[in-house]
Amino acid sequence: MTSLLPDYRPVSYSRVTLTELMIPSYANFGGKIHGGILLSLMDKVAYAAASKHAGTYCVTVSVDGVNFLQPVEVGELVSLLASVNYVGRTSLLVGIKVIAEDVRTGTVKHTNTSYFTMVAKDDAGKPTQVPGLLLESQEDTRRFLEAIKRREFNAQYRQEFDNARTILAVDQELHLLRHERCQIGY
Ligand SMILES: CC(C)(COP(=O)(O)OP(=O)(O)OC[C@H]1O[C@@H](n2cnc3c(N)ncnc32)[C@H](O)[C@@H]1OP(=O)(O)O)[C@@H](O)C(=O)NCCC(=O)NCCS
Repeated sequence: MTSLLPDYRPVSYSRVTLTELMIPSYANFGGKIHGGILLSLMDKVAYAAASKHAGTYCVTVSVDGVNFLQPVEVGELVSLLASVNYVGRTSLLVGIKVIAEDVRTGTVKHTNTSYFTMVAKDDAGKPTQVPGLLLESQEDTRRFLEAIKRREFNAQYRQEFDNARTILAVDQELHLLRHERCQIGY
């Protein structure tokens, strides 16, 4: 099946919001919502935004910036606001803002913002080119530029960490454990 994709698609074309009520079966033993439930919702909304922009099936490649700094409670209404912030050739960066609303008081808290890198796949499962992104506001442009920086920093971090791991000499680094809460038991 061949599909005709436009050269560019506006950011607004694929902007998606997913809202879900946090029911008791989503809770952990402490009575708060499981992080895994929120991750699954984030993956869903990232897929929705990415595949809408790409016009194809997409897969999740990496996830950035997942920090659960405030707990989400049972009974809260969680909304995940997703938009494509950046596109490469076959990859897309989807920014996701998660907010939780206490329906009784109307209080809204911003629980986290995360970034999912997705890759578009063709029917044969190969990465396939996505339409470019039509930036419709200064905010869209700011997010696109920020995504370029994020990509550069991540690539640099991966490279430096891989180098550090390759040359890690355990015997010479044991002094780093002096103030850590571990004990060598072998
Ligand atoms: C992601 C995947 C498609 C990359 O395949 P590949 O043969 O290395 O393809 P390419 O090198 O052409 O990379 C494709 C794109 O992914 C990007 N990419 C690859 N690894 C990446 C990483 N670790 N982080 C961010 N982007 C990455 C590349 O930059 C490229 O983007 P671009 O086309 O916009 O420049 C492949 O590893 C895959 O299918 N992984 C499984 C994904 C999956 O199934 N996820 C579901 C959860 S299990």
